[in-house]
Amino acid sequence: MIQAKKLTKIYKNGFKAVDNLNLTIEEGDIYGFLGPNGAGKTTTIRMLTGLLNPSEGEVIINGMKVRENNLEIKKVIGVLPESHGYYDWMTAYEYLIYFYKLFDSKNSNAHQHVTYLLDKVGLSKRSHTLIGQFSRGMKQRLGLAKTLINQPKVVFLDEPTLGLDPTGQRDIHELIKELNRSMNITVFITSHLLKDIEVLCNKVAIVKNGKLIEEDTILNLQQKHSPKEIIHIRTSKDEKAKMIIEKMNLAENVKITEEGIRIILQKDALSDQIKQEIVQSLFLEKLDIYEITKYKTTVEDIFLKLVTDSNEKVVK
Ligand SMILES: Nc1ncnc2c1ncn2[C@@H]1O[C@H](COP(=O)(O)OP(=O)(O)O)[C@@H](O)[C@H]1O
Ligand SMILES: [Mg+2]
Repeated sequence: MIQAKKLTKIYKNGFKAVDNLNLTIEEGDIYGFLGPNGAGKTTTIRMLTGLLNPSEGEVIINGMKVRENNLEIKKVIGVLPESHGYYDWMTAYEYLIYFYKLFDSKNSNAHQHVTYLLDKVGLSKRSHTLIGQFSRGMKQRLGLAKTLINQPKVVFLDEPTLGLDPTGQRDIHELIKELNRSMNITVFITSHLLKDIEVLCNKVAIVKNGKLIEEDTILNLQQKHSPKEIIHIRTSKDEKAKMIIEKMNLAENVKITEEGIRIILQKDALSDQIKQEIVQSLFLEKLDIYEITKYKTTVEDIFLKLVTDSNEKVVK
């Protein structure tokens, strides 16, 4: 288990990049740390892994304080940094052997272990190709293999899908799920992309300006923030349409937005039936309907709402 208590980082120039974070990552979690650029994700991951000392607060991994047990901690964790250099002149196999020897100087099982890892990340057939010839996606796979070189129980991945095309992103998602499932590895992953978190994680923390805005399971977040259906409608007279819809008393909230009228339905409302009733009422009032769509809120809506909401509540 990983625990961050009141984790804070104030850089030398006085900038507070991480502000009083309390996080709990359970064994077996794929834990998503989600926030826009500059939110403090990299700073946090560097403190969690002992690469950067916190200004205040502490991190505990498997009962050990990271600050006081740096060497011990390094043995049980793997880290994939946000940007990392590869040795383009080495083959994937040579690269992993090199790091294996750094980790285990006796290197008794180097060949066996590296071959296993190359297979795990799907690079077996390319193990003797120069890294310089790898695509970005292949480099990320190799990066993941390197992260696993010391057989860690926990891996920290800083934006592992950054710069990958959709196929590359999906490959990395599948790989992370597989590592979590078959090798029982706990995963802490940062991203500014919703999709990463939505498809991968069982738990998510949302950060903005270094502060924790939410920490919960994806399921709870969805339920808490909006299990409701939303209807969007554009008409010839939005103001009038809004009044008509409000009088019908079937929505929780009716608001005019840039994309037309946004109608948030009550929980468990029969959206198809309501849509029909709205269309009929507007038609009777001789309003033209240009467009009507309905959708269910997604994690993306929650995320956007949370990170753009200026008066959000900060979780203590
Ligand atoms: N060494 C540093 N000194 C001062 N400010 C920094 C330093 N490193 C990062 N920052 C600032 O801290 C904030 C958080 O950065 P970072 O942790 O890299 O965010 P993220 O990874 O979420 O994009 C940013 O505003 C960044 O400019
Ligand atoms: Mg970052």
